[in-house]
Amino acid sequence: MHTAPFLSPMQLAAYERDGYLIIPNFFSRELADRLRQRAEEICQGERNEAGIFSTTEQLQHTDEWFLESGDKVRLFLEAEAEPGMPRRVNKIGHALHALDEVFAAFSMDHRLAGFAKSLGFELAVVLQSMYIFKPPRVGGEVSPHQDGTFLNTEPLSVTGFWFAVDDATLENGCLWALPGGHHEPLRERFKRNGKGGCEMETLMETPLPEEGYVPLEAKSGTLVILHGQLPHKSYPNRSEQPRNAYTLHVIEGNFNYPKDNWLQRKTPAPVWEF
Ligand code: FE2
Repeated sequence: MHTAPFLSPMQLAAYERDGYLIIPNFFSRELADRLRQRAEEICQGERNEAGIFSTTEQLQHTDEWFLESGDKVRLFLEAEAEPGMPRRVNKIGHALHALDEVFAAFSMDHRLAGFAKSLGFELAVVLQSMYIFKPPRVGGEVSPHQDGTFLNTEPLSVTGFWFAVDDATLENGCLWALPGGHHEPLRERFKRNGKGGCEMETLMETPLPEEGYVPLEAKSGTLVILHGQLPHKSYPNRSEQPRNAYTLHVIEGNFNYPKDNWLQRKTPAPVWEF
C-alpha cells in the first residue's frame, strides 16, 4: 500500500471556490522533455494517418476518425496552415494513457489518484488523454466550453487534469477560465446521433458568460485541475513558441456513462487505484 498525497484543505477550498486548482512543479523539466519527445516520435510514426480537429468547426469535422479514436492513438491536424506549408498536428488522442508506455507511466502517477480521491472520486476511471501541440503561429483557438459537454455521466463527474509541458503564457495561448463558473449549469451536450455522426444538444439557451475569464499562465511542470462544469477557453497561438500540453479526463466509474457519449471504448479504461 502507498500513502497517496491528498489535496490540503486550503487547496480543496480554492477548488470549491474557483472550479480550478493550480499545482506548480508537479513534474520535472526532464519529464516534460520526455513527453515532448515521445509526442514527436508518435507524429513521425503516424504521419499518413491524420484527421482534423477544430472546436470552432466541431460539427462539420466529426467523422469516423474522431469517433473511433476513443481507444486509439490518432493524430488530428490544425485547421489552419501557413502558406505553402503542410498542416501541423493539433493533437494526439484519445488513449495515449492506455496504449503508449511513456504516457501511461506519466498518467498513472499515484499522486493523481490521491488528488482524485480528495476530490471525492470513488472509482476514478481515466477515460481520455490528449497531447495538444498548439504549434507556433497556427495553433488554433478553443472556444469557451465546459468539459461536461463532451464526456457525460449521470450525474456529471468529468474532471480535467491539464499538464503544462511548455510554459503556457498569454503570448502562446494559455488556458483562460471563469473563476466560480463551475456553478453554471451545463449548456450543451455533444453526443452521438445514431446516424454515424454527432450533434450538439442545447440544454440551456442562455450562452456561457463572455466576460470574467482570467488567464491561467503556467510554467512547464504545472498541473491544473479543472471542474467539468467550469467554462474555459484559449486563444490562438500567434507567437513563435509552441504550447505543448497534456490532458487527462477522469470520470466517476460508479455513475452511468450514457451510450450516446462520443467516446466509446471496446475495453475498460485504466483506473487510478487508491
Ligand atoms: Fe476543455
